Amino acid sequence: MAAGRAAVVCGLGTHLPSRVVTNEDLARELDTSDEWIRSRTGIGQRHIAEEGIATSDLAVEAGGRALKSAETDAVDTVIVATSTPDHTCPATAPTVAARLGLGTVPAFDVAAMCTGFLYGLAVGGGLIAAGTADSVLVIGAETYSSILDPEDRSTRAIFGDGAGAVVLRAGEPEEPGALGPVILGSDGTGSELIRIPSGGSRDPIRAEHIERADPYFRMAGTRVFRNAVERMVDASREAVSRVGWTLDDIEVFVAHQANVRIMNAVADQMRLPRSRFPVHLDRVGNTAAASIPLALADAVTTGALRPGQRTAIAGFGGGLTWGAATLTWPDVTPV
Ligand code: UT7
Repeated sequence: MAAGRAAVVCGLGTHLPSRVVTNEDLARELDTSDEWIRSRTGIGQRHIAEEGIATSDLAVEAGGRALKSAETDAVDTVIVATSTPDHTCPATAPTVAARLGLGTVPAFDVAAMCTGFLYGLAVGGGLIAAGTADSVLVIGAETYSSILDPEDRSTRAIFGDGAGAVVLRAGEPEEPGALGPVILGSDGTGSELIRIPSGGSRDPIRAEHIERADPYFRMAGTRVFRNAVERMVDASREAVSRVGWTLDDIEVFVAHQANVRIMNAVADQMRLPRSRFPVHLDRVGNTAAASIPLALADAVTTGALRPGQRTAIAGFGGGLTWGAATLTWPDVTPV
């Protein structure tokens, strides 16, 4: 590893589809209510892509804006974190790179569900630290509306579509925006808690058994909830101690926006004021791999996250997977 090279966040871009679906809209279709969704999750509405819009369409928008925010039109590598790729194969990232006019750069997907953006940051940061790349575009992009069961109130209430992206460049470990070590983990013994049962090699969808195939996203919410809190707290403690901070040094904690009750539980367990955890899910729901960059951009826009603030980011998702990292927030304007 090249000594002293850090990956520094130097651009931030987002994109949300324009169509908004409120809790009241859902309650007209499903046996649910604004009161249930708000009190159990904190979510008030979500953005849903129009029919025919795919993950790469959202990723191109957010990626292009991140490049603009970084005032560049070239990067060495493109990573797309997604669990809703355009196709099972090939990966979505090469399409995105081509459509962004980035030429023949390496481009690949990272599949870690809601933790995908943190995994993407770790891989992109590692490529920079090793001297393999000088700049990396990391995009989290999802169209969960394409995998949700229209009849499943527990998932349709939660998930939304969107994309967020950062540009990483090579820099110094002490400068604002430099990523600290990204702490990652997984526990495959919990793989059945969040999954799409059919459509992969374990249970291919074939014409002769189409009636027993389940092509929709399924989540055992309560068991995921308990795991999420414990894993995010542990990973965040480790990320903070690895950069020599104490927990109270965290001025802003941008958590994966899955459920405001999870964020409150993480805050309480870490004995941090809940006010240090910016909330974005009230307006966008859980956007999986897009959630952290979308929440970072929203926090900058609302003034909750300012240059120079010591910032933690943490996420949790299917796999099971989780991760956390720290950085001092740089002077970056989201586009
Ligand atoms: O982002 C990746 C990781 N994912 C997460 O972190 C999600 C973590 N889990 C959660 O956020 C919560 O578990 C949920 C919001 C998904 C569910 O909340 P919960 O408090 O765990 O509720 P539950 O699943 O235990 O369901 C309680 C009841 C059930 O009814 P019965 O069986 O008690 O009669 C559900 O059918 O609430 C019912 N329910 C709903 N009722 C009205 C579930 N969804 C809805 C709904 N509206 N939308």
